[in-house]
Amino acid sequence: MGKPGVFNKALICDPPILKVMQSSGGGAAEHLLESEIGVHWKEEELINPPPKFIAQANMADPAIFERFGEENFPECFREYAELLSWDRYWHTTLDTSNPPFWKWFVGGKLNASYNCIDRHLAKHRNKAAIIWVPEQEEEPDQILTFQELYSRVNEFALVLSEVAGLKKGDRVTFHLPMNPSLPVSMLAAARLGIIHNEVFGGFSAKACAERMEDAKSKILVTCDGYYRNGQWIDKKADADLTVDEASKVGIKVEKVLVWRRYPGKYLSKAEMVAGRDYFVDELLKKMHGKRVYPIPMDSEDPLFLMYTSGSTGRPKGCQHRTGGYLAYAAGTSKYVQDIHPEDVYWCFADIGWITGHSYIVYGPLALGATTVMYEGVPMFPDPGRSWRIAERLGVNIFHTAPTTIRMLRKAAPNEPDKYNYHFKTMTTVGEPIEPEVWRWYYDVVGKGEACITDTWWQTETGGIMCSTLPALQSMKPGSAGSGMPGIYPIIYDENGNEIKKGERRAGNICIRNPWPGIMQTIWGDPERYVRQYYLKYCKNTSSKDWHDWPYFAGDGAVLAPDGYFRILGRVDDVIKVAGHRLGTKELENAALTTKEISEAAAVPLADELRGHVPLIFASLKPGATPSKEIEAEVVSNIAKELGPIAKPRAVYLVPDLPKTRSGKIMRRVLAAISNNEDYGDVTTLANPDVVETIRKTVREHSV
Ligand code: PRX
Repeated sequence: MGKPGVFNKALICDPPILKVMQSSGGGAAEHLLESEIGVHWKEEELINPPPKFIAQANMADPAIFERFGEENFPECFREYAELLSWDRYWHTTLDTSNPPFWKWFVGGKLNASYNCIDRHLAKHRNKAAIIWVPEQEEEPDQILTFQELYSRVNEFALVLSEVAGLKKGDRVTFHLPMNPSLPVSMLAAARLGIIHNEVFGGFSAKACAERMEDAKSKILVTCDGYYRNGQWIDKKADADLTVDEASKVGIKVEKVLVWRRYPGKYLSKAEMVAGRDYFVDELLKKMHGKRVYPIPMDSEDPLFLMYTSGSTGRPKGCQHRTGGYLAYAAGTSKYVQDIHPEDVYWCFADIGWITGHSYIVYGPLALGATTVMYEGVPMFPDPGRSWRIAERLGVNIFHTAPTTIRMLRKAAPNEPDKYNYHFKTMTTVGEPIEPEVWRWYYDVVGKGEACITDTWWQTETGGIMCSTLPALQSMKPGSAGSGMPGIYPIIYDENGNEIKKGERRAGNICIRNPWPGIMQTIWGDPERYVRQYYLKYCKNTSSKDWHDWPYFAGDGAVLAPDGYFRILGRVDDVIKVAGHRLGTKELENAALTTKEISEAAAVPLADELRGHVPLIFASLKPGATPSKEIEAEVVSNIAKELGPIAKPRAVYLVPDLPKTRSGKIMRRVLAAISNNEDYGDVTTLANPDVVETIRKTVREHSV
């Protein structure tokens, strides 16, 4: 572990600016709310960034916190918006006339595709914009310069408009894996104001169809297939199923556009359907050399939808705006990731999730950076792969999730030593990172010379909410840091009382103010948006003052004496598997498609590598008897409905599920039993006896 570095004394002042931290001792989790994950971490020491890093950082001016202080809100966010090129300047930075539907940079016009591509051509035409690394190691990288990206995006934009008939405001669904076709498709849609809706490539056909139905989207863009863990995955076969599933829910998919991994060579077993399916590479030939004008979009025009799981069954289409989102992604990429155009930046996440949208595509490209994309999994063909990529490409900024870090650490803890790469910053995102894992990331992956930013945020927030600014604030293992500039987080208890720093109590982390990256609404369901994120702590629903509308994030957190937030995890019924949110209701609905099952409950089981994995407890319909076959069918139905990522570790068929007298399933009790924790007093349940039976079943079949 590196000692706190020596740094400019002038920077040592009150939180949240850099300071040498004495341990404040004591556990932070003595009075945890029932709904929160109990942790008993001790306070960790602070670690300072190397002076070499500070010397080159994009943001080393401590005045930023004052500039973004409450007295300068909302105008402070001009600083982010001014990183972009506007076709027309905005007249109102923040419009709060219809809370909580905030509007940002109102009156402004800009195009996201132009900002990520065209405006860099004059200086960076021949610079790599995207370096795509195929999973098969012997296959060459594909390098898209800004010029090449410009050509492909223009030509594909014409395919979207002329072949697929899409126009501004229409939705287009992508079910694409980590292949350059995905950012090209996104930027092509953005060029014409078509709202893109990427569904994570690993999700099932059914999940994709449901999202198409919700978005009322009739054009599907997919590919013939891709490599994952050495296997060829047939994606076009999936697309055919998606079309069938979509028709069941009332969506007639009009066209399926198929990118081929090797243009001219079709590797899927699924047949092409005449009049419906088209090879993109053939269509692109017809558009060769054509250009399309990037439409100046209103700042508030939606840029994309990103579906995410919540506490109820239906995934929510988080609708993100053009101006505010792009400004926020660019600003945070610049100040937290410290991306300069000359850096080689690799965010090892999937573009099918918000991390990839904001920090593989929009943020880095808006800054004219080189963004690396890798097709495959971390361990293929061996645990050295990531470090070979970093070494070969000269990656100097690395960004990934705790689940990947845990996996690499477990597989080959000394592997990074063998490779000659040097990171200046590293990021983690998606779940709490254990201090021990953090230290391995810092000492071994970062070789003790890189800053780590632990970034806490969500699909809904568009960009980072809490993190340290790497040249200005010390790192603390396991802590996300303070609110970002212009973000004012607060922790409330269940009754809306503030839990202050150093109280050593957990509560619900909220953001007191609006910010440019916040989603606009839930697509097609504004009421749910208000209900889900604002009603819990809204002080006055008729108020037009943003101070009355704190954003409820749905995470538990504690605030340390030094003003750093430690995020404890979700307080709603969401299970995070390898960093990805899965709704308990979605899992349960899928389990119920097994005809013998009458009731099901999904709970998280702690897992060393993936953070959590789902477990299913289910009771059977009268007349049915428990069997291995039923268990296997539940697993396969879940994989079919949601995708392989959602597969439960085990299915327990039990006589009944523990319930309150009002009939609510006590998932908390099931989770405690599964994780070998104390499940507390159950005597008030409607059926307390079943708890012991379940405990025995779990003990006998421990997984
Ligand atoms: O519980 C928090 C956890 O991930 C949730 C958001 O998930 P999603 O919308 O899929 O977005 C993930 C990528 C931004 C949060 O509510 N989470 C995210 N980052 C962190 C985290 N938990 C702890 N520490 C983090 N750095």
